[in-house]
Amino acid sequence: MEISHDVLVIGAGCAGMRAAIEAHDAGADVALVSKLHPTRSHSGAARGGINAALGNAGEDSPEQHAADTVKGSDYLGDQDAIELFCNEAPGDIYELERWGALFDRTEEGRLAQRPFGGAGAPRTVYVADVTGHVLLQVLYEQLLARDIQVYEEYFVWRLVLGDRGCEGVLAWDLPRGGLKAIAAKAVILATGGSGRVYRGTTNAYACTGDGMALALRAGLALKDSEFMQFHPTTIFPSGLVVTEAVRGEGGFLLNSEGEHFMSRYAPEAMELASRDVVSRAEQTEIDEGRSVDGSVLLDMRHFGPEKTVERFHGTRDLALTYAGVDPLTEPIPVRPGAHYHMGGVATDVDGCTTLENVFAAGEVACVSLHGANRLGGNSLMETIVFGRRAGRAAAGRALASTAAAEIAPAARADAERELAQLLDRREGERPRAIRDELGASMHENFGVFREEGEMRRQLEILESLRERYRHVLVDDRSEIFNSDLTQALELGYQLDLAVCMVSAGLERRESRGAHSRPKDFPARDDENFLKHSLVRWKDDRPQLSWEPVRITKWQPQDRSY
Ligand code: FUM
Repeated sequence: MEISHDVLVIGAGCAGMRAAIEAHDAGADVALVSKLHPTRSHSGAARGGINAALGNAGEDSPEQHAADTVKGSDYLGDQDAIELFCNEAPGDIYELERWGALFDRTEEGRLAQRPFGGAGAPRTVYVADVTGHVLLQVLYEQLLARDIQVYEEYFVWRLVLGDRGCEGVLAWDLPRGGLKAIAAKAVILATGGSGRVYRGTTNAYACTGDGMALALRAGLALKDSEFMQFHPTTIFPSGLVVTEAVRGEGGFLLNSEGEHFMSRYAPEAMELASRDVVSRAEQTEIDEGRSVDGSVLLDMRHFGPEKTVERFHGTRDLALTYAGVDPLTEPIPVRPGAHYHMGGVATDVDGCTTLENVFAAGEVACVSLHGANRLGGNSLMETIVFGRRAGRAAAGRALASTAAAEIAPAARADAERELAQLLDRREGERPRAIRDELGASMHENFGVFREEGEMRRQLEILESLRERYRHVLVDDRSEIFNSDLTQALELGYQLDLAVCMVSAGLERRESRGAHSRPKDFPARDDENFLKHSLVRWKDDRPQLSWEPVRITKWQPQDRSY
């Protein structure tokens, strides 16, 4: 029997769950489909907090939040989307609080707010250093309270396109095996990011850019895909993130000579410059030989036991387990790691894409809120503001449709044939080596710093990896929890995405935000590149076009911290 819903949300992290709740409350029959149990989603890794201009710890306003976000974006963010986001964020925080998010409080009982990078005021609402994790629990409770169906551990492999646009999805049922069709009148992509394209990343193994690749294959454009954010404080080799909140609350960075080096790169904001600036500073120290085994040192010893245990117990656990260091007595070795993809499926502020019935929200989408560089704490807020808006818009679309949602049997038969061909292959290369070479080479040639020759070389490497992938071998042919199969499919997604990222990066002949070309194009070039890249996938190749940035009141200026 075919399953069908008004609205189907792909992905069950914060954006997906918030979208589903809103679509349900708007009267739609909603379900989520996810590779993971919802509370295991990667939103849990956003530890330090969520931004809204409440003004509880110093003067602040949505206007100031917007100005900081525009500057943080290196003027590439669309300012109408930024203003809307900053105006709506406070209301969403209070709603989360009413739903049970136990945010930390000030002595006076107001919601506490801590400083974060690139912010003109302490603006980040938090729960110790486990904010994302707490929000996942709170949103999941709201799903349960509404009895919203979750298809857990289904790997979505195809958007099904028909006369009425997208008609649903085909998904591999991980625990039971077999392809399942789920029809829907509206589909929301909320699958998160693509950090696993890189070797050193904060992203969970699940972050393989699935939604971006599904959208590409359905003919949608990816916007600003060259912009991958490197978080300045990740632990090597696990890639786990040490929250920016450590720097927000006074942690500082040292090089191997014990120098507080940020004074040379961002004399005013120091460690609280925006992430692109801090990551470049660290990478320069590392490249110029002032590292400790390839890392710089994050010192929070002066916090003392009480503050560390109360606000940074998660960080201390991570440092002890993954760096073998107790931050009470030793600094933590950290380095930049791929963290957040500013680019994604191009949407408007209601999550609408150019494909009928397809919406997107959260990291998979590009509204564009973050432009060339995201401010820490803006992504959890993005999941809530734009998840809510996409849920409402998708419900409206679905409820206005009178036709039943259904998937043509031919679409399913074609997909089954394609999967059978992959599973029947007897010779070829297993995905692992291709995946490892992809991650290592992206790090090498498309990392914190980029340059024409390296990017061209990377495109050649990607071409040869894609050629090898044409003969990829799935060794395990069993039905139940066949992670060999899903990893092979994910690798196909990652390779396409990497080509889009590097192709757009090559053509952006300037340095802006996270796209830094100090050797060949060291300056920002507003005359030629104050515009968004758009990559579509045509005839097995990326096709690039450009679109203007929407500016409301902040003209581009020199950007320093
Ligand atoms: O450092 C952090 O706590 C990460 C937060 C974010 O990426 O927004």
